[in-house]
Amino acid sequence: MTWTVILPLLLLLTPAFTVDKGNFKTCKDARFCRRQREPRIDYYIHELLVDTVKLDSSKTALTATVKNIKSNDELLLEIHGFEDRTFRIRLNELRPLRKRYEVDISIDKLPKAAPMDLQQQSGQLQLNFPNKLHLNLIYNPFRVDIYDDGTLLTSLNSQSLLLIEPMRTKPGFVPNSDKSAADDQQTEDAAGDWESQTDEHRPEIVANDTDEQQEAEAKNDEPWEETFKGHVDSKPYGPNSIGLDVTFFGFENVYGLPEHADSFRLRSTKDTDPYRLYNLDVFEYELNSPMALYGAIPFMIAHNERSTIGMYWNNAAETWVDVDYGFISSAGTLFGGSSTPKTDTHWFSETGIIDVFFFLGPKPADVSRQFTGLVGRPYLPPFVTLGYHQCRWNYNDEKDVATVHENFDRYDIPVDFIWLDIEYTDGKRYFTWDTPKFPHPVEMINNLTAKGRNLIVISDPHIKKDDNYFIFKEMLDRGLYVKTKDGKDYEGWCWPGASYYPDFLNPATCEYYANLYSRESFDKIWTWNDMNEPSVFNGPEITMLKDIQHIGGLEHREVHNLYGILHTKATYEGHLKRADNKVRPFILTRSFFTGSQRYTAVWTGDNAAEWGHLKASNPMILSLGIAGMTFAGADVGGFFKNPETQLLVRWYQAGAFQPFFRAHAHIDTRRREPWLFDEQSMLLIRDSIRARYTFLPFWYTLFFEASQTGLPMMRPLWYEFPEDQNTFAMDDEYLLGDALLVKPVTDENTKTLNVYFPGTSAETWHDITTLAIHKGGSKSQIDTPMNKIPVFQRGGTIMPRRFRVRRSAILSIEDPITLSIALNDTGDAQGSLYLDDGISREHLDGNYFSIKLHLKNNILSSRVVHSASAYKTKVWLERIYLAGFKFKPSSIELNELFSGQKKVLEFFYDDKHHVLTIRKPGVNMSKEWRMIFRA
Ligand SMILES: *[C@@H]1O[C@H](CO)[C@@H](O)[C@H](O)[C@H]1NC(C)=O
Ligand SMILES: *[C@@H]1O[C@H](CO)[C@@H](O)[C@H](O)[C@H]1NC(C)=O
Ligand SMILES: *[C@@H]1O[C@H](CO)[C@@H](O)[C@H](O)[C@H]1NC(C)=O
Ligand SMILES: *[C@@H]1O[C@H](CO)[C@@H](O)[C@H](O)[C@H]1NC(C)=O
Repeated sequence: MTWTVILPLLLLLTPAFTVDKGNFKTCKDARFCRRQREPRIDYYIHELLVDTVKLDSSKTALTATVKNIKSNDELLLEIHGFEDRTFRIRLNELRPLRKRYEVDISIDKLPKAAPMDLQQQSGQLQLNFPNKLHLNLIYNPFRVDIYDDGTLLTSLNSQSLLLIEPMRTKPGFVPNSDKSAADDQQTEDAAGDWESQTDEHRPEIVANDTDEQQEAEAKNDEPWEETFKGHVDSKPYGPNSIGLDVTFFGFENVYGLPEHADSFRLRSTKDTDPYRLYNLDVFEYELNSPMALYGAIPFMIAHNERSTIGMYWNNAAETWVDVDYGFISSAGTLFGGSSTPKTDTHWFSETGIIDVFFFLGPKPADVSRQFTGLVGRPYLPPFVTLGYHQCRWNYNDEKDVATVHENFDRYDIPVDFIWLDIEYTDGKRYFTWDTPKFPHPVEMINNLTAKGRNLIVISDPHIKKDDNYFIFKEMLDRGLYVKTKDGKDYEGWCWPGASYYPDFLNPATCEYYANLYSRESFDKIWTWNDMNEPSVFNGPEITMLKDIQHIGGLEHREVHNLYGILHTKATYEGHLKRADNKVRPFILTRSFFTGSQRYTAVWTGDNAAEWGHLKASNPMILSLGIAGMTFAGADVGGFFKNPETQLLVRWYQAGAFQPFFRAHAHIDTRRREPWLFDEQSMLLIRDSIRARYTFLPFWYTLFFEASQTGLPMMRPLWYEFPEDQNTFAMDDEYLLGDALLVKPVTDENTKTLNVYFPGTSAETWHDITTLAIHKGGSKSQIDTPMNKIPVFQRGGTIMPRRFRVRRSAILSIEDPITLSIALNDTGDAQGSLYLDDGISREHLDGNYFSIKLHLKNNILSSRVVHSASAYKTKVWLERIYLAGFKFKPSSIELNELFSGQKKVLEFFYDDKHHVLTIRKPGVNMSKEWRMIFRA
């Protein structure tokens, strides 16, 4: 091994904690970013050619030619209308020299097409859709305006930033993949075309650029290579980036674009780089930064008190997005005054086509449904994965695993998973064991499962270059690796040293890789896919060169952001296959793209044991959630560095109320399992983990709801209170479902916390520990001693919980339910409960129970809205707490609806706190019943 190559990386492991920014490109370093960000606007005026407009026979797709009036370059415009207030607008070169890549893995299912009706007007064409939606195509300069019920919401190209750099062929260049006879002709023709063009007809790039390369590129008389830190990108197809501006009228808040370590409401990028979407292994990432991180979802939501709109930019190449908040200046009558806000956004990608979807809400929940209807709903994970996960780099050997496992019992702390990082392998050869340390993996796994616990191991995509490693050899023989621009197998450096990288664009690679999960000792455990940006220690920006080739001559540049989703999709399919499609997979990934929620959970990568990173976890998970990636979490405790005890305790308290709950730590940190701290702190950590388990039925019901509607479990306040402007910039408090308000402590020595309670004054919020009631639309100082997790239940909600302490979630799955009910001001409440076997995929065939609970007019009723045919449940009702119950009932009677059985129930009324406790209703949850509270 040439360790010198990875020496720079080892040096980074020194204690100083800051990202090495020099490793990563700024907009200035990415030439297309500069060209797109400051285009010659006068040069890019486009016109829609009226006589090219065509409507297909079903009247659901319109096409037209859009021409650059200076260069005469022609673009193909396509507009598709769909049901459920969704539009798709595409722009591509009319006659590209080489097919531009179109992303399809992100699309789960196109909605049903909706017909449109054309209305010719002077200088524009109006496209009318159902539900009072219409689009205006303005001919010159070309622009698309989207209206809802006569109100202009969004405009495309209103700033004339539309720019598709035409594909050109570098004189003398013959792409490796195009060396077939058929393509030779085309290449020559293209080159001929190019020679014949005059300077005037070539889009000039950036006029006032002083950078020599940039000028050379503009003149096209120099090699098209781009160099970054000594890495040469040969750019065989030259500059061919795409860009478009989109303005949201009447909106001054936009959100989304994960993954960034930044505020939830996107900042203006006027004085910074744009937000960057390019999946990278960013070592020791920086907070409050638009820098790219591990995953990318080019999805944005614009929100105001009246409406919510989503926009999805379907492109997997390096992408940057500028955001600028402002006001409509000369709009006059249309907007009634100059104080109407607007948000200008500008999107650009290095290659591919412009393929944009709009989701017109009008409410946040509608946008979630519309967007995930297209890109796929989050899959329902196994029940146990909602429990607590104990991870570390590394648990060293079988004895270490057994000891950690036993200690959780000794200290009576629930845990569902123990995780193994890379050191379990034989020299970082995935799908092998370091046998001296793990001689009996199957027995080790069985020992865990016998006690209701599970093991997860890591499996990274890089494959150690070693002729004696069967996976390396087999994939080599079958030609399943990515190739260099010269067609050789590409070699990069990662954990094992020299490594090859599977080409997951090749279906044969995915099939081979998926089958690996059926290997003995791996066939029953779930999987952690890391380093899949992909991380290449000696590559540009610690990833792959952009001119690397995938199957069919695809350039890595075109598909970079898909590497993670393709890797995890292969893993997902492997998990399904080995279990005959009967068991739900569980996979955790670091890298992801739009649609990854169909296969995986994600975590926010390599954070640090700092208060700022704890605080950042909330906005990061909120952004992921509204972009469909709902099952997300951050490493509890922080991956790098050693947390002080107070930070660790607060982090457990926060993590217990985030969707994915896993502690993890770097190999150089001190051990930090809960019992290694003072008893007081251990008990606080235990309490937060136990608190998590009491909410598992509620969490699981939310996960099911997400799988049906796309609504994130962890929501910004404005999702439920879209008219409450106080909430629009908030990201330090959030909701779980519509029922729980959470504001975790994220600052050191916090004695009190100022909590905002959303909604009108008719809204009530019940402190789940003190039972104090707070009115909506107000702020309160909440005491936050170390044992306090500020969590409030919304009046009007019913939450299913479980209070029996178990060693793991699986052991609780048939345990009885307790209902925590908080009444609203008019004495009503509602909620739901989802029950299934927790592990099989039979819920997809309807084998589950979905139960709705209502309290109204002093009657609590349970209605089974979906009843399983084969799945039976023993789950029964153990207890009910009603907070905000105004009187002491004279009696409480339970009626089972089908059996007709009646029962008088025992209860206790606390008239100080107005809490009514009903012990042991004892009714089966799969039965319908009514409970009557008599005055
Ligand atoms: C280029 O520089 C000149 C002189 O400074 C200036 O007038 C012109 O507006 C600049 N052009 C662009 C596109 O920035
Ligand atoms: C499994 O558990 C048994 C009984 O406690 C123990 O003797 C054995 O060493 C364990 N095996 C492993 C691999 O941990
Ligand atoms: C209480 O909840 C019921 C049912 O959800 C609703 O109709 C009623 O308006 C709510 N009352 C208040 C004061 O919010
Ligand atoms: C609930 O129903 C299941 C299945 O019908 C049954 O086995 C169980 O005994 C019932 N439990 C109660 C408390 O009625």
